[in-house]
Amino acid sequence: MAEELIISAGSKEEKYRELLPQIEAVVEDETDLIANMANIASMLHETFGFWWTGFYRVHPPLGEQEGNFLILGPFQGPLACTRIKKGEGVCGTAWERGETVIVPDVEAFPGHIACSSLSRSEIVVPVWRDGRVIAVLDIDSKELATFDEIDKRYLEEMVNVL
Ligand code: SME
Repeated sequence: MAEELIISAGSKEEKYRELLPQIEAVVEDETDLIANMANIASMLHETFGFWWTGFYRVHPPLGEQEGNFLILGPFQGPLACTRIKKGEGVCGTAWERGETVIVPDVEAFPGHIACSSLSRSEIVVPVWRDGRVIAVLDIDSKELATFDEIDKRYLEEMVNVL
């Protein structure tokens, strides 16, 4: 596995294109989901300098019963809320809908959960396994309207390698 992240200065899309194979290489060598989530959060956070980058996992895990809340997983950034119910906030909404949610202005999103008052925009991407959402990747920015279809496309691809 690569020991160090290598990303050259370039457009957002160029950075994602450089990052994707490095994430694949790291995940390929490790079967533990938490370890892989931790490295993906780190690599994204370091590459883009986001405010908060991390995962919430569906609890209880697959195979036990239908999940009923999200619980904080590996992340980079400030202290965060630990439990989020299905349908609540941006994370619970992305989980319930089973689709990526892009929020250009968190103040305009009804029910947004403000773990950090400095967060202004957000993207939440569901992580699928065996036809069910097992986690979400949540990224927060201190700027408005940070995330668009480019982020959605590459982040969906990145969480699919988990
Ligand atoms: N803002 C999220 C909560 C998680 S934190 O941003 C880390 C939400 O509304 O679901």
